[in-house]
Amino acid sequence: MQDYYQLFENNRNWSARKHEEDPEFFSRLLNQQSPKYLWIGCSDSRVPANQIVSLAPGEIFVHRNVANQVVHTDLNALSVIQYAVDALRVKHILVVGHYGCGGVKAALNNNRIGLIDNWLRHVQDIRDRHEAALDAIEDPGLRLDRLCELNVMQQVVNVCQSSVLQEAWLRGQQVRVHGWVYDLADGLIRDLEVSAGCKEEVMERFQGALARSHRGL
Ligand code: CO
Repeated sequence: MQDYYQLFENNRNWSARKHEEDPEFFSRLLNQQSPKYLWIGCSDSRVPANQIVSLAPGEIFVHRNVANQVVHTDLNALSVIQYAVDALRVKHILVVGHYGCGGVKAALNNNRIGLIDNWLRHVQDIRDRHEAALDAIEDPGLRLDRLCELNVMQQVVNVCQSSVLQEAWLRGQQVRVHGWVYDLADGLIRDLEVSAGCKEEVMERFQGALARSHRGL
């Protein structure tokens, strides 16, 4: 049997189990989704959105890319955000990075991998902006984790500065943007406390978070 064929068997078992637990499960989700959350996370296979926060299908809208970035001109991410905010009317946007992120590590250390170097250049911009603070951290693991935090904080600002959020807030829509970091070591999420629910809060929260680290630095 081909190894990937196991996935079909897993799927059949999962479908049967879901149906047994809740016979209405699939028919309920068939015609609509109404998630309250948009998750913007890293593609890393160890950080699966639904599982980490124990949410069922239909409860969280997900966008993932390498190093959980929201680049101002990335139509893919922007389209996800626009659909989530304008059509699905999510209440919370969660930008979720993770400690020990391979993408952030490659950016920090100038590793040459290929095409992806260009994508990670955005993380290097963040590294360069905070060069003095990062250089002051002697432990390489802690320096990486701080850049993981700084990256999340910057991506929160980027989401907030997008035309989608600016317009949503202008018309009084209730939607908050949060910055979290997931710890692969213990499976727990840390809140970086950069949450913003209006234009005025964005930079104030960002500046506040710059002054503290959640890794005890
Ligand atoms: Co990662």
